[in-house]
Formats: sequence, structure tokens, C-alpha cells
Amino acid sequence: MGGSHLCYGNGGSLSTGAGIASENIERNDRKVWTVKRSLEWASRYLEKRGIENPCLNAELLLGHLLQKKRFDLCLVVNQDLSCSVRILFQNLVKKRAQHVPLSHLTGKQDFMGYSFKVDPRVYIPRPETEILVEKVLQAVSLTRGRKFMAVDLGTGCGNIAITLAKQLQRSKIWAVDISPESLEVARDNARLHHVDKRVEFLRGDLFTPLTRLGLQRRVDLIISNPPYVASTQMRNLPPEVKKEPKVALEGGEDGLSIHRRIIRQAPRFLNKTGLLALEIGYGQAKIIKDLISAQPQFLPPKIVSDYQGKERVVLTRTIF
Ligand SMILES: C[S@@+](CC[C@H](N)C(=O)[O-])C[C@H]1O[C@@H](n2cnc3c(N)ncnc32)[C@H](O)[C@@H]1O
Repeated sequence: MGGSHLCYGNGGSLSTGAGIASENIERNDRKVWTVKRSLEWASRYLEKRGIENPCLNAELLLGHLLQKKRFDLCLVVNQDLSCSVRILFQNLVKKRAQHVPLSHLTGKQDFMGYSFKVDPRVYIPRPETEILVEKVLQAVSLTRGRKFMAVDLGTGCGNIAITLAKQLQRSKIWAVDISPESLEVARDNARLHHVDKRVEFLRGDLFTPLTRLGLQRRVDLIISNPPYVASTQMRNLPPEVKKEPKVALEGGEDGLSIHRRIIRQAPRFLNKTGLLALEIGYGQAKIIKDLISAQPQFLPPKIVSDYQGKERVVLTRTIF
């Protein structure tokens, strides 16, 4: 089983931080569910049904219900769950066992230290994409403090655009997505993070909604984590991933159809030392390198690997 066990704490009864009434169950009752016992049950239940990291999943779900950080559960392992919390917890664990993504059950996902609202309408931000944003922030560090114009193509829940807006205080960001449902979530997130005045969300196909804004040759950065799963691979995705929107995952025959279009059209919008930053999938670096090298407006690309050593991010600049 993944994750460490929680092993000490105080007595008492716990209800959700959301204010659901606490109902004590008698201590002698076989049905008393302490935090520890609940976690043990959930871990076993999830493990039997093939969920990876069952302990971690159990702790995150219970922490979510009790509005406690995972490690703070250590302080209350001997406390009883109220009846209502126990039922909510059992229901969440059962849904998780059916491969509903953890983030869909908690309604949120952390990205670069910020919490983003997510649900089945959007792609769930991944830790690998943090590398894309980190590399971009390093690359533009000298421009911090000056006005900065960026475009995020395929914004999803808005995690990239919103993180950039938080980190680059004088930035203006246009965030595009073809999915109106994604944009609803992204707009909520921008409001939650108080950057809704500097991040403008546009519905449309890649650069199409930008053309009418007169941004040609003015943009400092184009960033994107486009869909990159090859169509033939879609059926082999893990069950959790299959619950995310298809439009966020499928990248055409070889997975790179959106990348090709971005690489071809980006020079029209980037200024004379503009940065293009793309996330790529496993085994796609060579083709992407060739595509960029074939365009004389770009410098030779730099490829960055993720923490598992997989080539994950491509960066290049324009030279006009
Ligand atoms: C892999 S998700 C990335 C979401 C988010 N940027 C992230 O990195 O976590 C790709 C996103 O691109 C959007 N998308 C797919 N095709 C598109 C297109 N032709 N034009 C604009 N957005 C598109 C999808 O709706 C989805 O939100």
C-alpha cells in the first residue's frame, strides 16, 4: 500500500468542516468508526479494487471531508467520525474505487501552489505541466516588472494563464479554449484568484479568436499544453483519464496535430524575441524539434525533461 499510516491522536467526535451535524455513535457499538479505522477500511477497500496509492487516496478524501490537511489527520486518529461524515466518506471511497478521479471527488487540484476548481468539464492539471510554467518563468525572469503580453492556448481550467498572471504582476494574458465548458470553469478560477481583470478568456480554435484583437507581432509569450494523445492510443488510457474530456486529450493521428498548427502559426503573433513554450508527450521530442527547425523564424529549440527523465517541454524564440 502506498503512503504512510497515521498512528496517534485524541478522542472525540468529528463532523465535516462544512458544518454537517455530528452524531456520536456509542463507543461499544461495533459500528464506531474512528479516523484510524475508517482510513484502514478505505485503504483496504481501494487496494482490493486496484486503486494505486490506496492509503494516500483514503487520507486525501477524509482530509477533504474534515477540511484538514492530510498530515493533520495524525492528530485525530482516535476520534470518531460522525455518522454523516462516515456515510459521506464511504460514498466517496466507493466512487474512487470506480476510478472517478480524486480531483473530481474533492473538486479541486493544486498547481504551482495554487488551488484550482476542477470538475468533469475540464482537464485536470498535472504536475508535469508545472515544469512548463517554471521554465517559462525562468526564461522571462528579466522581463518581470515590465508589461508582458502572453497567450495560453487550450487553457482548460485556466491553471497556466492564472499562475502566470499571479507571478507576472504587469502581465495581460489571453487564454483560449475551444470548449465553452472549460472556459466556464477557467473564469471561475480567475475570479477566485483575483486575476479576472488581467486574464481574458476567449472561445475558439487556437489563434482564430486572437486575429480580430490586432495582436499580430506583439505577443511576448505563447504557451500551450495541447492535447497530445494519438487517436489510436485513446482506448488504452487509464480509466481515470478516460473520465476527462476527449477534446483535452486527443491530438489526432500521431498526437501532434495541434502542435503542428501552433508551430506554424505562432510566428504571426510573437514579437521579435517572442518565446514559444509547449508541453509534449513521451517520444514526441524529435518530431517537434524537426518541425521547429524547419521554420526559419525560430531559434533551435531547447528540450527540457521532467523529473522522470522524459522529454516534456520545448522552448524556442523567434528571430525576425
Ligand atoms: C491537455 S488540456 C490542457 C489544459 C491546461 N492548459 C493544462 O495544461 O492543465 C488541452 C486543452 O486544449 C483545449 N483544446 C483542444 N483543442 C483545441 C483547439 N483546437 N483550440 C483551442 N483549445 C483547444 C481543450 O479543450 C483542453 O482544455
